[in-house]
Amino acid sequence: MQHIISITEKMERNIMDIKLEPFGKIPTEHMFTAEYKNGEWQNAQVTPFHNLTLSPLTLCLHYGQTVFEGMKAFLMNDGNISVFRLDKHYDRFSKSLHRMCMPKVPNELFTNAIKQLVKIETKWIPSSPDGSLYIRPFMIATESRIGVKVSEEYLFIIVCSPAYQYYSKALKVKLETTYVRASLGGTGTVKCGGNYGGAFFPTQLANDQGYDQVLWTDSQHHGFIEESGTMNVMFFIDNVLMTPELSGTILDGVTRDSVLTIAKEKDINISEKQINYHELIHSFENGKHIEAFGVGTAAGVAPIEVIGIGLKEYKCYIEKDAMMFQLQKALYDINRGLVFDVHHWNSII
Ligand code: COI
Repeated sequence: MQHIISITEKMERNIMDIKLEPFGKIPTEHMFTAEYKNGEWQNAQVTPFHNLTLSPLTLCLHYGQTVFEGMKAFLMNDGNISVFRLDKHYDRFSKSLHRMCMPKVPNELFTNAIKQLVKIETKWIPSSPDGSLYIRPFMIATESRIGVKVSEEYLFIIVCSPAYQYYSKALKVKLETTYVRASLGGTGTVKCGGNYGGAFFPTQLANDQGYDQVLWTDSQHHGFIEESGTMNVMFFIDNVLMTPELSGTILDGVTRDSVLTIAKEKDINISEKQINYHELIHSFENGKHIEAFGVGTAAGVAPIEVIGIGLKEYKCYIEKDAMMFQLQKALYDINRGLVFDVHHWNSII
């Protein structure tokens, strides 16, 4: 049986020990739950972190009616705690719920729950520059019934976990031209559990070949780059910051949006359009300066060192003076309150 770390054990642990644990392994001491029954939200409460008791008939266990978000709280330079882009995460959560036929969570319920929980868990927020508190709001269909149907009951839960770097080194990604993550009209734009479960098999094949992640291509042509496993993807080529447009199959990433906004303010040329991987090969073969990186809440700005395309591997620029590190630093400065938060992205707790 898996050993679950007790609260006392956790308290005895140095927060630096948690750094040695895999991402998301150690929950903080408390969690938030609210139940949806008879058409309304009820029993909203913060409790000690605990396991759930569910009937084996529970709908989410069978048909994947689950939605989640990933957010971060940071310890700022002045000692305040901020939650990054609460509103944008709430909007995406609402869109995901709508697509999955799940009830809306009122903005006030979502926002207050996050603020209340983060305030209680302040001591779990790592103070080191690479540390943050990862916040995972999610909803599951809890009606106990094995028939295929939209659930009438739900649990909205928020848990937190101290987080450090998701990827500890520059990544090797494999361009995936057999399997697909999402197709037009599907659920690719929303954050539902099934999108991730379906990606495991191709990702495992890529891992077996020595890659950290797959780089998805579109389902129709297998020609256009979509996103990578846990993050959106960006390229900096010929002084242009390029990223696939929000085509209806990729996730509308909050970090994607933040990095694009920052880049525009730095007068960097931006191109949000389809990126054919043959164009990318052409650029590599012409010896162009090519930076590639992932952008995501958990991943942050994650450098990509190698892109495997077919039997060839292409090396990207990851030296210290790369543009991606300037963008990473600009985002860091906003997260930590080192620069004026012009966009009001930080919700101070
Ligand atoms: C995030 O970046 O917050 C995600 O949800 C991606 C991954 C951890 C599943």
